[in-house]
Amino acid sequence: MTATDRPSPAYAALAAHFEAIGPRHLRDLFAADARRVERCVLDIDGLRYDYSRQRVTPETVKLLAALARERGVEAFRDAMFAGEPVNLTEGRAVLHMALRDPNGALTPKPLAAEAQAERARMATLVERIHSGAWRGFTGQRITDVVNIGIGGSDLGPAMVVEALTPDHRPSLRSWFVSNVDGAHLHQTLAQLNPERTLFIVASKSFTTQETLQNAHSARRWLIEALGDEAAVAKHFVALSTNTEAVKAFGIDPANTLRFWDWVGGRFSLWSAIGLSIALATSMQTFDALCAGAHAMDRHVVEAPLEANLPALMALFGWWYAEFFGFAAHGVLPYDQNLARLPAYLQQAEMESNGKRVRRDGRPVAGATCPIVFGEPGTNGQHAFYQLLHQGTHVVPVDFLVAAEARHPLDAHHRLLLANCFAQAEALALGRTEDEVRAQMEAAGMASADIERLAAHRTFPGNRPSATFMYRRLDAFTLGRLIAAYEHKIALQGALWGVNSFDQWGVELGKVLARGIAPDLAPDAGAITAADPATAAAIAAARALRG
Ligand code: F6P
Repeated sequence: MTATDRPSPAYAALAAHFEAIGPRHLRDLFAADARRVERCVLDIDGLRYDYSRQRVTPETVKLLAALARERGVEAFRDAMFAGEPVNLTEGRAVLHMALRDPNGALTPKPLAAEAQAERARMATLVERIHSGAWRGFTGQRITDVVNIGIGGSDLGPAMVVEALTPDHRPSLRSWFVSNVDGAHLHQTLAQLNPERTLFIVASKSFTTQETLQNAHSARRWLIEALGDEAAVAKHFVALSTNTEAVKAFGIDPANTLRFWDWVGGRFSLWSAIGLSIALATSMQTFDALCAGAHAMDRHVVEAPLEANLPALMALFGWWYAEFFGFAAHGVLPYDQNLARLPAYLQQAEMESNGKRVRRDGRPVAGATCPIVFGEPGTNGQHAFYQLLHQGTHVVPVDFLVAAEARHPLDAHHRLLLANCFAQAEALALGRTEDEVRAQMEAAGMASADIERLAAHRTFPGNRPSATFMYRRLDAFTLGRLIAAYEHKIALQGALWGVNSFDQWGVELGKVLARGIAPDLAPDAGAITAADPATAAAIAAARALRG
């Protein structure tokens, strides 16, 4: 258990409760309450969240909710929805919810209206491209769309586009280029016809080194192929808050969709940054995604903390970090189309709450955001699940699964479901040594072999999980899920007292890279890097590059 520097009645009650509940096995918790599953399932209009395998009881939930109230989590949420500058290190509001709030019911009406007006511009652009009214420089229709962006300007749209594969338009292929590693752009361009390709330069700041490098190289490729700078106007659009920088890059303001500084990069897929989603599917699909997120916004605002999905997600994560010392969190979608969800949540969670000081600059007392990782099931089962079941680290996980597939191979889907349910059960209940021995005896194994293998084949269990289940992964459901995680992050940040909406931790590396790059230029002179290891690495790289 980590210490808190804010002893309080709610915290003290939880600490005492932990002494009683912490050591108890999930087997005991199930045995002690015949109605446990019923009590620990939240059903929000068909989105089922089963937390019966979390190491909590209804009493824990009550105490956690009391702590959240004591720490002003509801007041923080309300201030966020009201548009107060809760991102205090940058003096900004956090209002991505306004992007999916068509009537301004939950967020400031003028901002929601402004967002709708820009959405209408986006719809026009989407319609022109889908209908073929938009033509490339040589008169060809657009068949390939390349989103050039990184972090929040890549991970969200890339994740959603893949998740909604069954909704794709067959006539349009989507590509995402993010890495400054030229292999990413080069290998993508090799598969494209410039006459039919549209580049979306997605960058909130329009200053991000990787994105600008990729955009400049793509621009050069296009001009070289089509022989005229004028081609840029027909093959480049930009999504940004920095319309001046977009103009300076040479993209027509008419081909620019804007958004605002009250939209954080990692929460921006609902803004113009979602253009690649609407192009890959349809504007209706994008609207459904936003409607799902709006439904979750309403839920987080209206539901009491004890039955509030994002609040429960936040509280369980806090409980594990604060009292159990669990340092990682697994995201395990049993859905191949959600393959990018773990990467998306890595940014959303770790860039938001991977913080060591609180809002007032003082150090936090305990641990904050866990290390988030994951892979789709069943692939992960054949990779890292060994550690989940029998390793020395306990890793709470989220399972996500649709009851129904969106492909015709139902036998596969039934196997997928069976595996998902089996893993949650195995993690929670394990196999005791007695059970293992009895099984081996029943199988007629020699007693020497039983002795040798019993410990190896024992599963401790008591490894917590939550399971999200829904009918199918359509756009509305996906929107609800993403928004649930977004709100979890905000509420968890409020519990820890950190600012979830800045990301100063990514700055130092960017600054250093800018200083190092000139030493690697073809005409560079004496190495200027002061750090001896960096200087030696530059010298070695120069020598290796010949
Ligand atoms: O990694 C830092 C970061 O600022 C992220 O927060 C952001 O999503 C990403 O870079 C890309 O930024 P931009 O959209 O301004 O290019």
